[in-house]
Amino acid sequence: MRDELIKQAKNAQQYAYVPYSNFQVGAAVKMVSGKVFTGSNIENASYSLTCCAERTAIFKAVSEGETDFLALAVTGNTEEPISPCGACRQVMSEFFTDKTTIYLGNLHGDVYESSLAELLPFRFKL
Ligand code: THU
Repeated sequence: MRDELIKQAKNAQQYAYVPYSNFQVGAAVKMVSGKVFTGSNIENASYSLTCCAERTAIFKAVSEGETDFLALAVTGNTEEPISPCGACRQVMSEFFTDKTTIYLGNLHGDVYESSLAELLPFRFKL
């Protein structure tokens, strides 16, 4: 699953809309149902309205009635495995369990395997 999901995240990088940063990010989420949703980052002239690749993929899944996440993969052309921003971590915390695996990829094909517990300990929840 890991390699396939990383591949789909990498493929999604080509759809990034990044006229301001020119930094392409791709994400893919695998659902318990077996479905996969991909996403890319989508920027805006009003910079703060940018949506990261991770949130695009998560919102695509949820907006189609899928809320059980098995894994997420995210890739960017970085030296180190890309690390999701704080906003995306909080969105992940809404849906991910401690069993949801988070794969972080880089330019060289290295993959760091993580979890929400590692990325967002002591998180805000209602
Ligand atoms: N970005 C993502 O899509 N995901 C991340 O994990 C880090 C940052 C995007 C947002 C913006 O379009 C660009 O990368 C530069 O910050």
